[in-house]
Amino acid sequence: MRRYHLTTYGCQMNAHDSERIKGLLESSGLGEAASQDEADVIVFNTCTIREKADGRFLQNLMHARAQKARDPEKRIVVGGCWSESLKDELFAEYPFVDFAFGPGSIARLGDFLAPGGELPRGHFSTFDAFAGDLPMHRARPFSAWLQISMGCNSVCSYCIVPAVRGRERSRPLEDVLSEARRLADDGVSELTLLGQNVNSYGRDLPLTGRVSFAELLRRLDAVPGIDRIRFTSPHPKDMRADVIAAMAECPAVCEALHLPLQSGSTRILKAMRRTYSRERYLALVDRLRDAMPDVALTTDIIVGFPGETEDDFAATLDVYDTVGFDHAFTFIYSPRRGTEAAGMADQVPEPVKHERLERLVERVQAHARHRNARLVGSVQEVLVEGPSRTDPDTHRGRARSGKTVIFSPGAAVGAAVPVRVEAVTSQTLRGTVEAPVAVA
Ligand code: SAH
Ligand code: SF4
Ligand code: F3S
Repeated sequence: MRRYHLTTYGCQMNAHDSERIKGLLESSGLGEAASQDEADVIVFNTCTIREKADGRFLQNLMHARAQKARDPEKRIVVGGCWSESLKDELFAEYPFVDFAFGPGSIARLGDFLAPGGELPRGHFSTFDAFAGDLPMHRARPFSAWLQISMGCNSVCSYCIVPAVRGRERSRPLEDVLSEARRLADDGVSELTLLGQNVNSYGRDLPLTGRVSFAELLRRLDAVPGIDRIRFTSPHPKDMRADVIAAMAECPAVCEALHLPLQSGSTRILKAMRRTYSRERYLALVDRLRDAMPDVALTTDIIVGFPGETEDDFAATLDVYDTVGFDHAFTFIYSPRRGTEAAGMADQVPEPVKHERLERLVERVQAHARHRNARLVGSVQEVLVEGPSRTDPDTHRGRARSGKTVIFSPGAAVGAAVPVRVEAVTSQTLRGTVEAPVAVA
């Protein structure tokens, strides 16, 4: 049997695309190899969001080239956002690559893999269709990603995503609902809705079938068997009253929100083209907490955007303290080819960016510990994921807030159990299962 090895980089969108890529590879008769060395087909699903992502991947790609030099029968396939950013130039620079495709044309991989199906060279990058109907190899039985849109119509000046994922396209409501029902029938109880700008869902749908993101949440909430709904990433500009109401009123929608801030300085937000100010973001957080007092808020922050002064950075720290986020992903600004910000004059020196990141990370950890400490003594509903990675005598799972919970005694994987929180760190909650557990 021929075998493949797939390496995935980047965001949840890419991880989900990889489930389809694996599904296609396996339905074409390939088995999974434990390493690149043992694989006949070496596949990469790439990311290009920051320079670091490119670097990690290129190192691996060179390793694959060396393996192919020893064994010319090996095939090298490159999909994803980095691939899309280069298109046909990819073959000029990396002639040992056999097949390349972008995030919108995963299905083409199936044609390439078909017997005798080695396609002519060329980069496949047109948007074919949502991958929703392709075979899928899912990682966990009880939890699934569900893509509701792809692409992004925003023009954030630092971001390469619109260039590689294209204009925003929403999946028709019926497609989304029927996939949700299929997943529920298959034993899935937790859905994570995916889109680059998940809460602008629906605006591009034909008038007759148009629904808003808020309405979509309500429709998914009504699907029997779905007990938890999450989504990522929403844009603050589209976090309107109807979405907040749907979140608060739908029992399945989790009390958790990842709300990218990027910067706390209105001046920098403007240069980033984020379309909100510091005040509007803070007012939005107030409205969210009015509707959902215990909502867990997480965010993304970029330090060292061109022109960011010490005062701008202080404004970011200040918003961070005012909100008191549960957690944050923090990034050093990385200039990306073709983006507006890459051409801006006053790029911030690397040492300054690093120093700011360190100060921010300290703040993130302190708030995370503090936010978790508030939960000591509370009972959290935990969806059981399996034995803990570090201590096989304990189990791990996730609270509705998205926080990782370590607990004992064990319980059936996929069951939802009440856990009383006894201790916390900045990363996890620890506790004991409260009541006898119904085995799912
Ligand atoms: N669509 C999502 C996330 C896109 S990328 C959203 O709008 O929230 C994930 C995160 O990477 C972004 O939120 C941003 O914080 C960060 N990011 C994007 N481009 C970047 C760049 N050029 N340099 C550093 N961080 C970047
Ligand atoms: Fe990038 Fe902005 Fe679109 Fe997010 S909303 S993907 S940061 S352009
Ligand atoms: Fe990376 Fe593409 Fe996601 S650039 S972050 S894999 S959308």
